[in-house]
This record gives sequence, C-alpha cells and structure tokens, in this order.
Amino acid sequence: MSTLLSEEKIVPFVEALIVEAGDKIRKRINESTSYEMKKNFADLVTAVDQDLELFLIKELQNRFPSHYYLTEETNPTQTVEKDSNDQFIWVIDPIDGTMNFVHGFNRYAISIALCKGEEIILGFILDVNNNTLYSAIKGAGAFCQGERIQVSNTSSINNSLLALGFSAEQWEQKIDVVSIMTAIAGAARGIRITGSSCLDLADVATGKLDSFFHYGLAPWDMAAGSLLVQEANGICTGMKGEPNFIKSNGILVTNGHLHHPYIELMSRHV
Ligand code: IPD
Ligand code: CA
Ligand code: CA
Repeated sequence: MSTLLSEEKIVPFVEALIVEAGDKIRKRINESTSYEMKKNFADLVTAVDQDLELFLIKELQNRFPSHYYLTEETNPTQTVEKDSNDQFIWVIDPIDGTMNFVHGFNRYAISIALCKGEEIILGFILDVNNNTLYSAIKGAGAFCQGERIQVSNTSSINNSLLALGFSAEQWEQKIDVVSIMTAIAGAARGIRITGSSCLDLADVATGKLDSFFHYGLAPWDMAAGSLLVQEANGICTGMKGEPNFIKSNGILVTNGHLHHPYIELMSRHV
C-alpha cells in the first residue's frame, strides 16, 4: 500500500464506515419489501440501496475530496478522466444481493473497493446478516474479521464446489443458462447460486467454495471480492483466462489449482 494511504489510516476508516453502513441496513429491514424494477423484473432496487450509497459517498467525499466514484445506483462521478493512472476511484455496491434482501433471504453484503487507476488496491465486504467483515490490501493479504484467509487446496473438479450466477438480462433471455448448467452437471461435486457475487468471492477466498464464475457482472459486483481472492492466493481471470477480468465478458475465479481445468471444461460448452 502506498505511503499516502497508510498515512491517512484509510483501512480502519473504511472498516468502521462499512460496519456503520451494515447497522443502517439492519435497522431498515422492514423496508426491504418495497422495491422498484430497473432493467427488468429480475433487476430490483430499494430506497435502502439508494440511501446507503449516498451515505457512503458522502462520508468518503468528506474524507477524500479529490477522489472519484463508480457506483451502482447513483453514478455521482461522470467525469473521471480517462487514462489517468493516478486517480483514486471508489467502486461501491451498497447492497450486493438486493433480490435476496427483498425476499428476506439472508445473503447480501456491502462491497467497497478503492482503485488507483485500473489497479484495485483495497477491498472491503461486509456480510450484513452475519456482521462479518472481509478486507483485502494489495500486497499485504486478505482477512476475515482480522484473521488472514486462504483459498482451498482442492485440486480436482470432481471434488470441487462452485458458485455461479446469472445477470438479470441473461436470466430473462435464458442466454447461456442451459449451456453453463450442462458444463457443470456431472463434473463438479455441486453448484450453488446464492445471489450475492461478492459473498461468493469472499467464500472462495476463505476456501468454502473452490470456484466461482459469472458472465455480465459490473465492476462494483466484483472489485472488492476479486482482490480478496487474489490476496488469499486464488486466481481471477476472464472466462478464457484473459488477465483483465473487469473488462472481460465474464469472470472465472478459482483457488488456482482448478483454474485451467475449469477454463478447459467451460470452453467445451459455452
Ligand atoms: C447481483 C448479485 C448477483 C448476480 C447479479 C448481480 P445486485 O447484484 O451480485 O449475485 O448474479 O448479476 O446483479 O444487483 O444485487 O447488486
Ligand atoms: Ca451487485
Ligand atoms: Ca447492488
């Protein structure tokens, strides 16, 4: 981490902020069933998502007035200058797993990442229902509740548990859904579709899951979680192994041992 960031004590500041934001969500749980649709019937937003995002931006802006923002619901910074590697950009998903939140299915999280140019340098995820905090610092490790975490050692697809998900558009149009299921059935030990990509990434980082993949994610779904996985010694790429997974059409995440086997398996079906 750069001297600038450590001097500003940015990590404890954001950790305290995300925990406070988690309290705010839990206090408004009775509002979760009131939602609006965005792109289609499977793409939902609540007032809690919007208010929480504005709260996080305001607090970060007060502390870091020169930084930029890339966020899901309100898009406050339209003016990030392209091709500058010196800009600090906060990438925020106020609730990852809004559909779960709306349905009372207890798996959703807040995801905050800090990028310097295109490099993700900090990642924070709060599992709201379990009040569990994950943090990752580029080059310094990945942590759950302050304890260092590590991906699994699983080395065969037959012994692996993976998670995946579908974007709202894929789900509505049934794109890839069947071919992805066909690829996994009979190969992996099992699949989970949990509805919170950032928590799936956190679960790969702690070794509960061995792999995760998803087409059509946005940067705020995966920025913090991907750093968590990488700092826990896992690998994140595009579906064909492309290094820039944020700009790829899909992301493949594994414990490392399973990366090439999964690329090979998926390439035969999708
Ligand atoms: C969603 C979750 C889900 C994924 C969807 C995302 P949201 O984020 O990450 O796991 O499958 O594609 O949109 O909309 O709840 O922030
Ligand atoms: Ca999300
Ligand atoms: Ca969201």
